[in-house]
Amino acid sequence: MIENIFKIVTSFSLLISVSSTQDNEGIYLRQSTRALRLIEGETVTTTVYDYVIVLASIIDQEVHRKCTASILTSRWVLTAAHCVEAYQDPVQLARMYIWYKNFTVSPLETKFYSKILEIFIHPHYVYSYNNDQLDFNDIALVRVRSVLMDNYGQLLATDYLALLGHEVTFIGGGQTEKRGFIDSDDMQPLRIGRGVLMTCDKNFLQKMSFPLICVAPRCENKKQTAWYGDAGAPLIHDNKIIAVLVTITPTVVTAYVPVSPYLHWIYNVIETHKNSLYSINKTRF
Ligand SMILES: *[C@@H]1O[C@H](CO)[C@@H](O)[C@H](O)[C@H]1NC(C)=O
Ligand SMILES: *[C@@H]1O[C@H](CO)[C@@H](O)[C@H](O)[C@H]1NC(C)=O
Repeated sequence: MIENIFKIVTSFSLLISVSSTQDNEGIYLRQSTRALRLIEGETVTTTVYDYVIVLASIIDQEVHRKCTASILTSRWVLTAAHCVEAYQDPVQLARMYIWYKNFTVSPLETKFYSKILEIFIHPHYVYSYNNDQLDFNDIALVRVRSVLMDNYGQLLATDYLALLGHEVTFIGGGQTEKRGFIDSDDMQPLRIGRGVLMTCDKNFLQKMSFPLICVAPRCENKKQTAWYGDAGAPLIHDNKIIAVLVTITPTVVTAYVPVSPYLHWIYNVIETHKNSLYSINKTRF
């Protein structure tokens, strides 16, 4: 049935499902053949996209990639809500970091990581783990210990519908896999690909919230697409962020929450928490 959509899960939940089903070879293979990052992408070699970062947990000096995200200011990061909802309790939150700039060397060596301090999930976010088709307002902001970057992500205020049919760029920092084991090949650079913005097929996304926009591969490379571990990653047009990756459909069309309908919420959260603890007086936005 094509109406099934496959929820992008964080690698954390993938890890749980892999370890709990290792005795079931069928399921294990299905998981292990599922690459987690951008398919047929190219390696990002420019610093223009330095604002694309990775959410990671660091436990006992071990770094585990989770989702992808964008850093908007020295203290604020944009991602998908389903990527961070499991990390809201203090114990989980204490292990969560953003990892930036260099993804081929451990952040413990480069020191290119910073603590996640607080998570702000959209107040009307709804996601049902019992029903993959239920996913509303899957967008979140993450407040981090201040990081100084050369490039911060800029949000495009233009109504996303005005961009239908345009070429868009997606970048992902999802995990790769080696020898079938997730987490064994974490030191990989960001990958980049291109697609075309289109409306989503409501057959796949019946119960999903709209606004939602989709990206189809270009004719030149029909296999190039973002993938599971890239959830939370930005969709880019004219080097501005227009949407956040939330879901992959069975036809390899990817679905994104556009940012333009959420600009008020984003600005409001950032403005309201401007003077939070750990803030520095040099916020750029
Ligand atoms: C990451 O750091 C390594 C080691 O210093 C370096 O060789 C590599 O070029 C760096 N990558 C980027 C993208 O800066
Ligand atoms: C930031 O600015 C406020 C008001 O201008 C001031 O009271 C506070 O001490 C400053 N904080 C830091 C860390 O400089």
